[in-house]
Amino acid sequence: MDIEAYSNPTPWSKHTFDKILELRSMSFVVIHNSKLIGFCIANKVLDECHLQNISVVEEMRRQGVGDFMVSILLKRMKLFELKTALLEVRRSNKIAHDFYRKNGFQELSVRKNYYQTKNGREDAIIMHLEAV
Ligand SMILES: CC(C)(COP(=O)(O)OP(=O)(O)OC[C@H]1O[C@@H](n2cnc3c(N)ncnc32)[C@H](O)[C@@H]1OP(=O)(O)O)[C@@H](O)C(=O)NCCC(=O)NCCS
Repeated sequence: MDIEAYSNPTPWSKHTFDKILELRSMSFVVIHNSKLIGFCIANKVLDECHLQNISVVEEMRRQGVGDFMVSILLKRMKLFELKTALLEVRRSNKIAHDFYRKNGFQELSVRKNYYQTKNGREDAIIMHLEAV
């Protein structure tokens, strides 16, 4: 919840985390020196993996933790026999966009005005990855 509070312009509530973790969860956290430094929230939906939220504690960013979490998720997809991963990212979140591109995700489509912002709304870019 602490990481989420400063990482997401519209942070998830505890209720949202609880509801999403209840169902078909492929989610996990990364612990380093007894401290939670990252989380990945993903669900199996039919034959797809929906990556719903991923975040790294601020002081540990740009050190490969995000890449590590995607590699774990890909291994989990293999165990679940899932070939496709899908996600939505805010158009303004260039860092996340670059991060996903580097990890093999490609743009699929756009959901206009999907996300709330402080001043209005912004588009969601839908990205997908086809695991080999
Ligand atoms: C997106 C996020 C999870 C990436 O985690 P991370 O541990 O910092 O990422 P990594 O160190 O594994 O970086 C992997 C690649 O992502 C890209 N990337 C990561 N941070 C970047 C930055 N600040 N600027 C540009 N590219 C960046 C780079 O391609 C990087 O590879 P490189 O270091 O070899 O150039 C992290 O920035 C974060 O928690 N952001 C806030 C939450 C968020 O926006 N989540 C996505 C919601 S859709």
